[in-house]
Amino acid sequence: MNRPPMQVPIARTQLTEDEIQSVLAPLRSGWLVQGPKVREFEEKWCAFTGAQHSIAVTSCTTGLHLALAGLGFGPGDEAIVPAFTWIATANVVEHLGGRVVFCDIDPLTFNIDVEQLQAKITPRTRAILPVHLFGLPADMAHVNRIAEQHNIHVVEDAACGFGSRIRGRHVGAHGHAGAFSFHPRKAITTGEGGMITTNDAQLAEKIRRLRDHGAAMSDLQRHLGPRPYLLADHPDAGYNQRMTDIQAALGAAQMDRAAAIVAERQRLARIYDEAFAGLAWLRTPAHVHGMENGYQSYPCMFLPEAITQESIPRVNAQRNQWMDKLQQAGISTRPATHAVHMLQFYREKYGLRPSDFTHAWAANDCSISLPLFHGMSDAEQQYVIGQVLAARF
Ligand SMILES: Cc1ncc(COP(=O)(O)O)c(C=O)c1O
Repeated sequence: MNRPPMQVPIARTQLTEDEIQSVLAPLRSGWLVQGPKVREFEEKWCAFTGAQHSIAVTSCTTGLHLALAGLGFGPGDEAIVPAFTWIATANVVEHLGGRVVFCDIDPLTFNIDVEQLQAKITPRTRAILPVHLFGLPADMAHVNRIAEQHNIHVVEDAACGFGSRIRGRHVGAHGHAGAFSFHPRKAITTGEGGMITTNDAQLAEKIRRLRDHGAAMSDLQRHLGPRPYLLADHPDAGYNQRMTDIQAALGAAQMDRAAAIVAERQRLARIYDEAFAGLAWLRTPAHVHGMENGYQSYPCMFLPEAITQESIPRVNAQRNQWMDKLQQAGISTRPATHAVHMLQFYREKYGLRPSDFTHAWAANDCSISLPLFHGMSDAEQQYVIGQVLAARF
């Protein structure tokens, strides 16, 4: 087999030399755990997103978990979760002893279908977890309206939402709280890591405690206070979900070029949009009025024929063959994400079939994400475009 002329990964971490050097400061100072660098990263996150409170944690998953716990979500409570998202959005509900109530997605945006939300509400519904999937914001105005009517908490899964705005306002504090991810496939990375945002001071205080073993005072507060040798009280039986200062140094350093990172990802997406506009068999990410997409990724629907329950297996087989071909040409692709109701744990626990959430099923089987990452060269992107345009369906 011929070697492909180029290898284009689905994503590639890009760090400047200064960002790499930034992790040396905590290593040299000896303050490795949550401390001054975490505080700096949180302050920069507030400045960029406009959220009043930012709380750094070990991942988006633990962020969603702490946000729900801080809101008092517990055993027997129900949370509405889109059926097409990363499994973590649903898992945190299970971790707290709750029940997941899936809602199908809008096939054009991949986000929760707000028209179906009302019908999912029961007397036990305590939370809705809209997901800003792949960077396109969910319809928060609609979600919040329904949540307010029923006195339900809203926690935004903003894992992919860096640089995503609704009518100019960054996602993450449109509901009661939101959580972001710093996994390396996200625009800002700390290896593992996450950030909770909220405009509710009391909730922020509660989450800060829960993150840190339930302590009334953080180590940094204690060390900066008059009697650093005395230990804090613990009003809650909390967790240890603290980000390290090594991770936070890396995150804080990247925030100095946050706007440029988002702009570059948006520029790459525009080039793809224009290149693929004439392809009837590939639906590129939707543009929704008032919504700014930070493009965590570039998810498309593969449509060599109309999607119906009967055609999904056929389209799925064809998509997988096309993914094989792209891989052989050196281009990595992925299904956009997975339909959680089709994964074994949820399938078995709740007795679900793919057809219970048809659009999530179709997205699971017929979506394809193309490489998009800041630092992608023009040559890499033109190579991907050339390979996609050369395909015939
Ligand atoms: C939509 C969504 N939610 C949650 C997560 C979990 O993020 P983390 O890996 O930081 O826990 C991810 C990660 O890919 C995600 O895409």
